[in-house]
Amino acid sequence: MKALVKERAEPGLWLTDVPEPELGPGEVKIRVLRTGICGTDLHIRKFDDWARHTLELPLVVGHEFSGHVVEVAPGVEDISVGDLVSGEGHLVCGKCRNCMAGRRHLCRNTVGLGVNRNGAFAEFVTLPASNVWVHRVPVHPDIAALFDPFGNAVHTALSFPLVGEDVLITGAGPIGLMAAAVATHVGARNVMITDVSDERLDLAGKLGVSLAVNVSRSSIAEGMRQLHLREGFDVGLEMSGNPTAVRDMLASMTHGGKIAMLGLPAEEFAVDWSTVVTSMITIKGVYGREMYETWYNMSVLLEKGLDLSPVITDRFSYRDFDAAFETAAGGRTGKVILDWSDASSSGETGGEPAGATTNRSA
Ligand SMILES: NC(=O)c1ccc[n+]([C@@H]2O[C@H](COP(=O)([O-])OP(=O)(O)OC[C@H]3O[C@@H](n4cnc5c(N)ncnc54)[C@H](O)[C@@H]3O)[C@@H](O)[C@H]2O)c1
Ligand SMILES: [Zn+2]
Ligand SMILES: [Zn+2]
Repeated sequence: MKALVKERAEPGLWLTDVPEPELGPGEVKIRVLRTGICGTDLHIRKFDDWARHTLELPLVVGHEFSGHVVEVAPGVEDISVGDLVSGEGHLVCGKCRNCMAGRRHLCRNTVGLGVNRNGAFAEFVTLPASNVWVHRVPVHPDIAALFDPFGNAVHTALSFPLVGEDVLITGAGPIGLMAAAVATHVGARNVMITDVSDERLDLAGKLGVSLAVNVSRSSIAEGMRQLHLREGFDVGLEMSGNPTAVRDMLASMTHGGKIAMLGLPAEEFAVDWSTVVTSMITIKGVYGREMYETWYNMSVLLEKGLDLSPVITDRFSYRDFDAAFETAAGGRTGKVILDWSDASSSGETGGEPAGATTNRSA
């Protein structure tokens, strides 16, 4: 089958033929239809320090995908050939204290699809049945391919109650954009988003935010004045990983404000801890998605009309992966999707069966 492989310890990715993955016990085999390019994939392509220290090569990359089930191991229930599915890319151990308690997102032995094991930028991928999310609410394969980062957005956005609250989102990348759509959809009063890219802030406008602020020209404080906020934001969703954004967010919260941090800073940095203490600010780190409460939330949000379609700005055939990766690395677009549906070295052609394609939102 065709797959995008990190073959050598140098920058780049290679589209090559590799053996199809074999179905293990308790697993499901999926014909990939769409994949999403994530920051992690950009790090792997670039082969930066993190990638150099983390990866064992060769590796089929990619973890954001949608596809159709083509084979199910004996004993696997509730998943059928032909189902449209997405995959939870964190494979947990099932044995540690948190796993045993049902807090699988807190597993300390998590294995990452497309990082620690062969991933989904390929014609086929296999996953444990417990990592497969069947779309029982009809959803377009493009949107289904967003469920991993959409899950980051939903996990973060729903960390604290948002109804009637003033919400600040720092970072209008694909995940910040989706979080903004969610916060608006669930009834926040004001949703203000910041970035340094006008293109991304324009996309935020299409998703219905109250105010999109370019902090390279303006500031969070100026945005607060425009929104007539007197005391500061109630909830902050940090989605940039940028130290200045974190510091400015901390300085813009109301007393007792709550911050959910998804953005991953590249290194340590200083913050004004006395503000955190005296304003009694709660900061919660957020990683991955809750299994499977976040997934349930995502399907229900789409069922109730959340429209993520503006978040996808660019679509490429998997054959044009280099151009797709360049576009994603440019940092000015929304989500970049690769289409694998016409790759057909074997079996199914990847056509979309009835019932899996209706979607009001894409
Ligand atoms: N915790 C997790 O499980 C998890 C999962 C996925 C991604 N992440 C992290 O979440 C963040 C968002 O992911 P993404 O894919 O949308 O990333 P992204 O890099 O596409 O988006 C980050 C955005 O922040 C903007 N930015 C830079 N400086 C800023 C500033 N001072 N103020 C406001 N915005 C600023 C950038 O221009 C960019 O648009 C990244 O840091 C990523 O590493 C975390
Ligand atoms: Zn991702
Ligand atoms: Zn575990």
